Amino acid sequence: LAVYAGLVYTSHICRWRLSKVPSKSKVVWEKFSHQSKFQRKLYHYGTFPQDFNWGVSSSAYQIEGAWNADGKGASVWDTFSQKPGSIPANANGDVACDSYYRLDEDLYMLRALRVKSYRFSLSWSRIFPDGRRTSLNQKGVDYYNRLIDGLLAHNITPMVTLYHWDLPQALHNLGGWANVEMIDIFNDFCDFCFATFGDRVKFWMTFNQPYTIAWSGYGLGEIPPNIKNPATAPYTVAHNLIKAHATAYHTYDDKYRKSQGGLVSIALSADWFEPKDVNVPREVVAADRALQFQLGWFAHPIFKNGDYPDAMKWQVGNKSELQRLSESRLPSFTEEEKSFIRGTADMFCVNHYTTKIARHATLSTAIDKQRAVAWGLRRLLNWIKEEYGDPEIYITENGVATDSKTTWDDPARVFYYKTYIDEALKAYDIDGVKVKGYIATSLMDSFEWLNGYKVGFGLHHVDFTNPNRPRTPKYSAHFYYQVIKDNGFPIPDDDKMLYGHFRKDFIWSVSTAAYQVTIEGGWRADGKGLSIWDTFAHTPLRVFDDDTGDIACDSYNKIQEDVAMLKQLKVTHYRFSISWPRVLPDGTTNHINNAGLNYYQRLIDALLAVNIQPHVTLYHWDLPQALQDVGGWENETIIARFTDYADIIFSHLGPKVKFWITINEPFRPGTLPYIVAHNLIKAHAEVWHLYNDKYRATQKGVISMTINSDWSEPRNPYKQEDYDAARLIEYIQIFNFNISRLPEFSPEEIKRIKGTYDYFGFNHYTTILSPIFLVFLNFIVDLNRGVGTIADRTWLDSGSAWLKVSPFGFRRILNFIKEEYGNPPIIITENGISERGSVDLNDIQRSYYYEKYINQLLKGIKCQWATGFAERFGLFYVNRSDPNLPRVAKASVANYSTIITCNGFPDPALEPHECLNTEPEGKLQSCLAICLFVCVFVARKQPKKKYFIETITLEKKM
Ligand SMILES: *[C@@H]1O[C@H](CO)[C@@H](O)[C@H](O)[C@H]1NC(C)=O
Ligand SMILES: *[C@@H]1O[C@H](CO)[C@@H](O)[C@H](O)[C@H]1NC(C)=O
Ligand SMILES: *[C@@H]1O[C@H](CO)[C@@H](O)[C@H](O)[C@H]1NC(C)=O
Ligand SMILES: *[C@@H]1O[C@H](CO)[C@@H](O)[C@H](O)[C@H]1NC(C)=O
Repeated sequence: LAVYAGLVYTSHICRWRLSKVPSKSKVVWEKFSHQSKFQRKLYHYGTFPQDFNWGVSSSAYQIEGAWNADGKGASVWDTFSQKPGSIPANANGDVACDSYYRLDEDLYMLRALRVKSYRFSLSWSRIFPDGRRTSLNQKGVDYYNRLIDGLLAHNITPMVTLYHWDLPQALHNLGGWANVEMIDIFNDFCDFCFATFGDRVKFWMTFNQPYTIAWSGYGLGEIPPNIKNPATAPYTVAHNLIKAHATAYHTYDDKYRKSQGGLVSIALSADWFEPKDVNVPREVVAADRALQFQLGWFAHPIFKNGDYPDAMKWQVGNKSELQRLSESRLPSFTEEEKSFIRGTADMFCVNHYTTKIARHATLSTAIDKQRAVAWGLRRLLNWIKEEYGDPEIYITENGVATDSKTTWDDPARVFYYKTYIDEALKAYDIDGVKVKGYIATSLMDSFEWLNGYKVGFGLHHVDFTNPNRPRTPKYSAHFYYQVIKDNGFPIPDDDKMLYGHFRKDFIWSVSTAAYQVTIEGGWRADGKGLSIWDTFAHTPLRVFDDDTGDIACDSYNKIQEDVAMLKQLKVTHYRFSISWPRVLPDGTTNHINNAGLNYYQRLIDALLAVNIQPHVTLYHWDLPQALQDVGGWENETIIARFTDYADIIFSHLGPKVKFWITINEPFRPGTLPYIVAHNLIKAHAEVWHLYNDKYRATQKGVISMTINSDWSEPRNPYKQEDYDAARLIEYIQIFNFNISRLPEFSPEEIKRIKGTYDYFGFNHYTTILSPIFLVFLNFIVDLNRGVGTIADRTWLDSGSAWLKVSPFGFRRILNFIKEEYGNPPIIITENGISERGSVDLNDIQRSYYYEKYINQLLKGIKCQWATGFAERFGLFYVNRSDPNLPRVAKASVANYSTIITCNGFPDPALEPHECLNTEPEGKLQSCLAICLFVCVFVARKQPKKKYFIETITLEKKM
């Protein structure tokens, strides 16, 4: 048995070195490709280990300039870029950032950023002008000594690339990397560098992106030496590069490691490849093969078994067979070579930029799209961990190019880093990948190879038109400095959970609107008139899926079911709107539809019977069609019509309703002709005065309108204009409460309108970022809020493009209102998240949204302002394909009702909490297709408004 076990063991040892096709690393796709967008995007807060290596990169030809100064020899890049027509605008690296003469400026930037490492490359032909030791140029050596010493003087670790594409021209003349002699010549250069700089340099990379050297230089012929021979040259060149790398590694190992104690590796490039369909095995094989052809080509021999990946050997072998070649175009290594190559890297260095889609094609893989998606980095890091035996990984390049016209205001780069570094953090913190360092590309804008100076990757902008090449930190440099300082993304105070409870008199409630949320149905029932929404929805192709509100949730016929559900949810308020045409079919008092009025009376009685307060909106966008036919809100006579309608409602329902909203969101900036906003505001004011003069004394309620505003953050926090723009948006969106800003009103009108609110009814959903130039655009964009605005890409999405999950903005805008409008009582009348696509009853996203937003509210209350909160968008799913219109509670209902039951967030450290264990009662059967949860909170009593205090007292009694 023992012997048998030993045999099994041995064969196991032999086998793990062999790769599989697809590799075992396909588990990475199995694990991650099924993630929901929510899971994928959820921002992860945390930090890297203390010794994490933060750095920035550059390379010799891109920054040094001084192409022939002090005895430097020409490289293939000098030759190529100096040839007219090679590069747009005939750009070249003759001067570049002039770093050869501006060492102090470079060191200054590095010190200011407080990076721990600086990755740069040595120009071979600056040290050996003709590539050989015999041509040694001491001035070149001196330059690098000054650089290295300057770094060490400031505790910055030099990370040195020995070869970053600038092959000495003299060596190209010998055939370059297609010539096997290059292995020894390169080794001699490395030997010299180890001996000369190795006392201070402890982190070496032999080659930068050998894939690019072999494929773009010798296959596609795009970069120097521009050889176009894709069939065989890349394979020969890569074969030599791998051997050259291994030789240099052994030189270090044999001669220097003991005394110098550094690390040697090679910087490999890798895109991430996502299969076209992760459920189809051969597509996963295709993605795996794509990775093997790019990364595995070099990593497999060096980090696995000294040989190319099987996927590569088979594909090139089979194709060579088809081409009737006597042997594969992919050269093979001898056994000695394999053992010489295997294990010649002390850490894994990877350059990563983009993700591509791989799909199966006959005998190969086709690569489709290319996108910069941050989550690709997390998957790549996991794949490397699986495939190469959990090595220590340094991300040696990662960054994004922006047009060189973008000088220092580069939020796109900030988003890139914010998301990519976060994915690296997830790989480290959640997945246990040994991520040891992150090098941002690059320190400053520089000669971008085939793009010349058209684009820049820099954290610093360089003015290439100025002979002094001034360097200016970009917004991204400030950002990266902060990331380094924080060692990642520690959880911001804003996002920390606050444990605690709402006040005892905090009122939790739920709300809907008559047509807009399509809950009532009964569109022609019992004499109801047409509304503009009925007409709109009955016009084909106007509403998604030709969905109408004809039946909707049929709440008109299901009062008892609705109320029963509200009761089960333990809410104390219910916000709903009255359908104007249901009460006044043609919009006027010529005919009162008593059946319609009776419906609302029954609803209110049913609510009060179970101690639920009605919160009633008079106008939620469903204007009677008959009024629209005579000009709607553009016709001034509508003010009187609306007042008449309100009078009817107050007199019939007012004795039992204490909370009124005149108009929900009377206008959004730019959505309505000016006259409409004008009339809406005047109608609101008239109704407020009607209530104030005729009903308040006896009915003792409060009345206001609701408005909507997003919170705006300055897009670039380092730019004053963006601050100003953000505030300006607030002013624009809220200006209906500051009537003096509307010049069209006469002084008498202003007097009549001013102060016509008892509380600040406020709808809020999201935060936008506001660069100055978007302010006016934002002002004129249409109903599609967000069209002219941008959001932080790290914020979670919802089903609506304009709605990004940004809970911190909720608290900030409430504080803004408090400061700006003299601390009015605020009721948040709408707030929520939408979703899109197939129904997911397990709506974790909505639960997340509640928890975060309501927690911000709790924090606000700790700060003592008055507020309220409302959730909009479906907590319940109404299955419209089923004639019984069954309503199914989504998972978030349980989450939300737990918050209600607990009246906040009990601290888990102070266990136990019974409220956390209460089960949501049964299947909640009621019709709330899109239901609005409102928690109304009226904290600060306003001493000046006496009736307001009365209302509170009155509520408490009920
Ligand atoms: C061709 O591919 C198959 C696997 O599909 C492999 O077993 C075989 O060795 C390959 N042939 C050559 C010549 O590489
Ligand atoms: C405005 O409405 C009234 C009825 O209320 C109507 O007589 C008048 O023609 C309308 N004006 C316009 C311009 O449509
Ligand atoms: C409101 O109007 C006053 C002047 O009546 C002005 O000082 C204040 O800045 C305005 N606030 C906003 C938000 O527009
Ligand atoms: C909706 O109802 C239809 C018909 O009864 C049923 O086939 C479907 O599975 C239901 N959808 C959901 C998500 O419950």
